[in-house]
Amino acid sequence: MEIRAVVAVSRTGAIGLDGSVPWEYPEDFRQYKRRVRGSPVVVGRRTFDQMDPIDDSLNLVLTSDESRTADHDRVQYVNSRAEAVSVAEDAGGDVLSVIGGGGVYRAFLPFTDRAFVSELPEPLEGDADFPYLGAGWEVAERHEFDRFTLVEHVNEHPKPRSEL
Ligand SMILES: NC(=O)c1ccc[n+]([C@@H]2O[C@H](COP(=O)([O-])OP(=O)(O)OC[C@H]3O[C@@H](n4cnc5c(N)ncnc54)[C@H](OP(=O)(O)O)[C@@H]3O)[C@@H](O)[C@H]2O)c1
Repeated sequence: MEIRAVVAVSRTGAIGLDGSVPWEYPEDFRQYKRRVRGSPVVVGRRTFDQMDPIDDSLNLVLTSDESRTADHDRVQYVNSRAEAVSVAEDAGGDVLSVIGGGGVYRAFLPFTDRAFVSELPEPLEGDADFPYLGAGWEVAERHEFDRFTLVEHVNEHPKPRSEL
């Protein structure tokens, strides 16, 4: 199973402010929904509290609060990266999409195989960011859209899942 980060990043590296995303890029939102729906996603509790579950996907919500339970059959709370990956594998997906926010991208980054980064021309000073990819990540493809560029990065040396 491939682990993918899917994110929209401003020019500053910021991805959000006050618990939400202060921009509208409908074309990016459409490609994001197409990319993530249908297979499991993992999302941070703070981001999930502000969104509707992704349609047709098992939504795995990462939290340290072991008392949380979901009242939606496509939502499950998980308490560790290892639990998220194990549940996604048991669900039979080929892909686990990491859909944020900042804390969850950071937690999964060493184990992430591929990152789909929408580069938006926004000068946002936010309070959540996407981690710097750095050495070991290669650009595999660039897709030009009208208002932004989607860059697909590949991690040459993801950490073994045994270290999750
Ligand atoms: N631009 C984009 O593509 C994009 C995508 C998604 C989100 N966002 C933005 O990102 C911002 C939110 O990011 P954030 O970093 O504040 O929060 P977050 O990553 O959404 O959620 C953080 C929470 O996840 C849980 N968590 C994280 N790592 C964990 C671990 N290893 N084990 C157990 N639980 C763990 C904790 O929940 P508990 O506190 O319950 O323990 C933590 O407080 C918002 O502004 C949102 O709109 C942007």
